[in-house]
Amino acid sequence: MNHIKFQPFPVLLTERLTLRALEDADLPALFQLKNDPKVSKYTSKTVHTSLDETQAFMAKILSGIEKNESVYWVIENKADSTFLGTICLWNMDLDEEMADVGYELLPAFWKQNYMSEALEVVMNYSFNVLRLKKLGAVTSAGNLASIRLLERHHFTKNRELNDFDLTESGEKIPLIFYISKKGTHFN
Ligand SMILES: CC(C)(COP(=O)(O)OP(=O)(O)OC[C@H]1O[C@@H](n2cnc3c(N)ncnc32)[C@H](O)[C@@H]1OP(=O)(O)O)[C@@H](O)C(=O)NCCC(=O)NCCS
Repeated sequence: MNHIKFQPFPVLLTERLTLRALEDADLPALFQLKNDPKVSKYTSKTVHTSLDETQAFMAKILSGIEKNESVYWVIENKADSTFLGTICLWNMDLDEEMADVGYELLPAFWKQNYMSEALEVVMNYSFNVLRLKKLGAVTSAGNLASIRLLERHHFTKNRELNDFDLTESGEKIPLIFYISKKGTHFN
């Protein structure tokens, strides 16, 4: 998998969306996303409480891309360039030829099929351009939107893995590990 390079940045297009690189000008919108408790509800991630925190996060993301260790797209509405959310590939495993996918949208844009559209193009890119063999995703058992999204895209539960996340208040959330294999993801 050492053929993987994210320069030039892989801009991806769908019918309604542009998936593009993160830019400095995205800071306020990214902060809005990272500061929203509805978005982080099903994860152990703490909400960002300052722009500095989001700026440090952006630097980490950009460094991962520069080192070809991960890739992170801003999901933008093609028609008016509105920032809708993000989708990423991380946890790249060279031996397994696998990566994990992560995604989040601002709540105003939920349930409009946007993430389905974004995930579809990221799966095609992962399997056909990066030539990965598997994609993983971890979601909490209560995250019905994420579960439905993954199952619609033919991810299946990996029953061998069991773990849980902890919320900020120390509450345990069971996690579900999903996997999609190249050649089985078509609708
Ligand atoms: C998960 C998330 C990205 C889904 O994005 P979305 O654009 O709203 O999803 P889509 O509109 O493409 O919907 C995909 C499927 O999930 C279903 N769905 C969406 N929201 C749902 C909800 N709250 N409850 C149940 N099903 C839901 C849709 O009906 C659709 O199913 P269908 O294909 O049978 O019609 C979005 O809810 C989100 O950003 N959540 C917060 C961040 C998060 O939890 N990320 C995942 C961490 S693992």
